[in-house]
Amino acid sequence: MYSVADLKTVYLDYMRANPFTKEPKGLFEPVDYIMQLGGKRLRPILVLMAYNLFEEEVSPALPIAQAIEIFHNFSLVHDDIMDEAPLRRGQPTVHHKYDNNTGILSGDVMLIYAYQYLLKIKEKDLLPDIIQEFTDVAEAVCVGQQYDMNFETDEMVTIPAYLSMIEHKTALLLVGALKMGAILAKTSPENIHHLGEFGRNVGIAFQLQDDILDTFGDPEKFGKRVGGDIVQNKKTFLVLKTQEVADDIDKKRLKDLMASYPADEEQKISEVRTLFQKNNIQKLADSVKETYQNKAMWHLDKVAVDPQRKNELKTLAAVLLKRNT
Ligand code: IPE
Ligand code: IPE
Ligand code: MG
Ligand code: MG
Ligand code: MG
Repeated sequence: MYSVADLKTVYLDYMRANPFTKEPKGLFEPVDYIMQLGGKRLRPILVLMAYNLFEEEVSPALPIAQAIEIFHNFSLVHDDIMDEAPLRRGQPTVHHKYDNNTGILSGDVMLIYAYQYLLKIKEKDLLPDIIQEFTDVAEAVCVGQQYDMNFETDEMVTIPAYLSMIEHKTALLLVGALKMGAILAKTSPENIHHLGEFGRNVGIAFQLQDDILDTFGDPEKFGKRVGGDIVQNKKTFLVLKTQEVADDIDKKRLKDLMASYPADEEQKISEVRTLFQKNNIQKLADSVKETYQNKAMWHLDKVAVDPQRKNELKTLAAVLLKRNT
């Protein structure tokens, strides 16, 4: 049984042994750039962890791990264009380092490569189920991304609508990672289900933490522009909850700020951050995160495998929710 750290090394060795060094460079160099840029490697680790719950030797799951990390990085390249983001993992985003067209086409080829890697698994009889799971999840990410964009200009966004949006854009990819690892291990449908539900709840909490860090993170560690969500008028939990609990004057001010595109972006970020702080929003967000964390643990408990084998997943979920990067 591997530790999280071991699985990260196993995955990175595989990824580095399979670089994107093809021609034309204009298409593939940006793919290699974003893939090598670092990141937590959470999704490939989850694929390997789910598989490793049931199987000792994880190498059969590496193509799926790679497929899902390529897909994740593809979604980030396009997301950074859509969110007009300058920084990713402490470095320029692909469309800033190159240009928008590069981001679009290099992103497209990454999606295709994700499927190429799925096709590499040895157990070909499992391919229909694995590709079905992957395709469902990939569609969900697009659905979530569209709602995320719609909400930038929508005046009325409810907290349930926000939670559904983050479930689609973020949580379902974690669900897919865990379920695909479990499908490849040929475990029971019940185990696959509970691992998926574990991922769904961890994923929602993970995106809540991302939204908190986007406003309150340490710029040195976060690796993305702190305040970016505020600049783009993203209707995050922080905004929606403030709209619920603040007094009428603060509500009105926040509403106006979050529909504006002022030249002085730093002033807007600072004013919105102050409104969040005044209303204790981080604490409220933390308690919602905890609810999802507890649901996740409930489902993990239901996975029928030696409890000791689940300790790494338990620890990982706890660490993720306290992360600063
Ligand atoms: C970023 O994902 C996109 C979100 C869903 C919040 P990660 O926070 O996993 O990004 P990396 O891969 O570690 O950089
Ligand atoms: C990203 O959401 C989810 C994706 C599907 C890429 P965000 O827009 O919050 O992700 P970051 O903060 O840019 O990583
Ligand atoms: Mg973004
Ligand atoms: Mg986004
Ligand atoms: Mg974010």
